[in-house]
Amino acid sequence: MTDPHLLDEADPSKWRLAIRVLAMPADTNAAGDIFGGWLMSQADIAGATVAVQAAAGRVVTVAVNEFRFVSPVAVGDLVEIYARVQRLGTTSVRVEIAAWARREMDPDSHHHVASANITYVAVGADGRPRPITARRPEPS
Ligand SMILES: CC(C)(COP(=O)(O)OP(=O)(O)OC[C@H]1O[C@@H](n2cnc3c(N)ncnc32)[C@H](O)[C@@H]1OP(=O)(O)O)[C@@H](O)C(=O)NCCC(=O)NCCS
Repeated sequence: MTDPHLLDEADPSKWRLAIRVLAMPADTNAAGDIFGGWLMSQADIAGATVAVQAAAGRVVTVAVNEFRFVSPVAVGDLVEIYARVQRLGTTSVRVEIAAWARREMDPDSHHHVASANITYVAVGADGRPRPITARRPEPS
């Protein structure tokens, strides 16, 4: 479990709880399991919340560098996705993401369900890359 004491809302290089979302029956595949693409989508959204702050504006996803499904997500799970900035480039922000699930029948449980690494690019109104000027501390 990500140590809540490491959470620091002011510093995007520190882990933060980016989103919490319930896995619903509509998110299942043909076998009745939660669809991997649903979790990827949630991770992309979670990472973007951190990237937008670090880039001080609009970003687009340019690459999913890595995505690892560690254990299954079940219907009814409360999925909590943590994110932190791993690297700030000239126009890009690389974000580290960790997804955890609390089971409906055991809300105090924490199951590591996925790890990801996603790169976002800061873009201007024309959709082209723009330099990131609002730089914040790199991870130590
Ligand atoms: C993102 C986009 C604006 C980048 O345009 P581009 O002309 O390729 O930009 P560049 O080659 O100058 O690269 C911009 C940055 O992205 C990084 N980048 C590009 N491709 C990358 C990849 N595959 N992995 C990691 N970083 C990458 C570059 O290293 C550069 O970072 P830096 O400035 O910090 O050094 C353009 O590719 C685009 O619009 N893609 C579609 C984005 C989108 O719609 N996403 C949602 C999909 S539904």
